Amino acid sequence: MIEPDFLHTTRTGYDAWAVPYAELFANRLDDYPLDRAMLAAFAEFVRADGGGPVADLGCGPGHVTALLHSLGLTASGVDLSAEMIAIARKAHPELRFDQGSMTALPLDDGELGGILARYSIIHTPPERLPEIFAEFHRVLAPGGHLLLAFQALDDPTQLAEAFDHKVALAYRWSPGRVADLLRERGLVEVARLVREPDEDDERGFQQAHLLARKGEPAAFRRPLPTRRKNSA
Ligand SMILES: C[S@@+](CC[C@H](N)C(=O)[O-])C[C@H]1O[C@@H](n2cnc3c(N)ncnc32)[C@H](O)[C@@H]1O
Repeated sequence: MIEPDFLHTTRTGYDAWAVPYAELFANRLDDYPLDRAMLAAFAEFVRADGGGPVADLGCGPGHVTALLHSLGLTASGVDLSAEMIAIARKAHPELRFDQGSMTALPLDDGELGGILARYSIIHTPPERLPEIFAEFHRVLAPGGHLLLAFQALDDPTQLAEAFDHKVALAYRWSPGRVADLLRERGLVEVARLVREPDEDDERGFQQAHLLARKGEPAAFRRPLPTRRKNSA
């Protein structure tokens, strides 16, 4: 099958940039407590629903896959870039990493309890995003959880806006419009976090996390813990 241009450009770009990327981002999450909080909440939801396997899609060098593993999840990674996968396997030999694309995942229907896609949809042309969300829906089990992270666009009239990126053309996304697209594919928003731009981000981009679930909104309600009766 012929690889679409955007996948070819993204793959070759990250192949070339894999080593510096891994060095630059290895400990980056240490500086982002809000991102870690969303990852921790995601992990807690997956564990509470039986702890099914979780795939880190567009895992890059695997540092966040390893974090998910440390949070008690059965985590593996998939990435377009062979170089990224080689780095991830070397750094985390105890975890599984496969080369593949989110547009045609090497995974069975309904096999996952959770998906993390952290800054990996950003090189997808907007018209191709629905097919990726359809893949996410296919491989998630009913009630499975999705955590998406991306540069945010504060303009609900647009789905996406292109921006220059070191590796390949990238897009930032309106969180509300992305949530609409997810819902159309059966993935319903549970929560979102939009944090203000980093001090050193000259572009001034907000950063978004969207947590969603395969299923109906009513399924999010959890029974309240039974209160202890006060004997006094
Ligand atoms: C900005 S990096 C993010 C890496 C990692 N998730 C992180 O949080 O540091 C984007 C990664 O997504 C991968 N990627 C982009 N498009 C992809 C696709 N269609 N399928 C699989 N991986 C993809 C790239 O190869 C790259 O490793």
